[in-house]
Amino acid sequence: MTGAAVYKQGWTLDDVHWDWFDPARVDPGLLAGVKAAALVEFNAPDYVDYLKRVFHDAGPQTLEAIEQWGAEESQHGKALGRYAELADPGFRMEDAVARFRRGYSPAHFAGDGGSVRGSRRGEMIARCVVESGTSSYYSAMRDASEEPLLREIAGRIAADEYRHYKLFYDTLGTQKEPELSLWRKLLIAIGRVRESDDDELAFAFYCANVKPEEEATKPYDRKVYSRLSAVNGASIYSRKHIQKLVQMVVKAIGADPHGWLANLAGSLLWRRLQKNVA
Ligand SMILES: [Fe+2]
Ligand SMILES: [Fe+2]
Repeated sequence: MTGAAVYKQGWTLDDVHWDWFDPARVDPGLLAGVKAAALVEFNAPDYVDYLKRVFHDAGPQTLEAIEQWGAEESQHGKALGRYAELADPGFRMEDAVARFRRGYSPAHFAGDGGSVRGSRRGEMIARCVVESGTSSYYSAMRDASEEPLLREIAGRIAADEYRHYKLFYDTLGTQKEPELSLWRKLLIAIGRVRESDDDELAFAFYCANVKPEEEATKPYDRKVYSRLSAVNGASIYSRKHIQKLVQMVVKAIGADPHGWLANLAGSLLWRRLQKNVA
């Protein structure tokens, strides 16, 4: 088992080598990130319904691919949740999910119209941004972990996220809508990146890492937990993960992944992350 292991699509929780778990090598910082990620991943079914509404007449193949995608995201939540319960027997995934769901629900999931990004192409660019983020995040988590079971789980998830990116990138290319300008695409991508600062990650980090009995003494403060979540995430990245992330996003908006835009965005993002962990 190494970071270079290639994990195929279609794995189940039974394929995971749970007996590889080595409690002595659990890193508390990584575990805090795993718990928060488990909650965000587990919420994917809401997004499936939304995406199916956006692509309601796109044909059975696209709708099936969306279903499959959502099932894989939920499985990520289950795998990470099971890992978190193993590494911290005081953690209860079910309770944390319930708290998270009570307090957080993205407004656009409840709508019945089209994409909140203005078009299907816009929706696919936003999805590509998210999958670029998750694939680089889990690659970084795999590379940062000395605990073998987490290396395996993060490696499997990272491979799935990369396939999801390809699915949405290909879907983007097959839309009959008119092509968007580079600036419009860039604005959509930046808009989606900025949403990562919203309540979702901060509140997931809170529900995952503050026990229910501590709520009275540690009430939720969006600013505080947004910062804690960002610092926790930023600490696991290395420069190569950031460059890969940026290249994937830049490719999704139709620019050169090895050109000036990718290089500039890569250095800016890296500098920002380093400031976060300083
Ligand atoms: Fe995922
Ligand atoms: Fe994904």
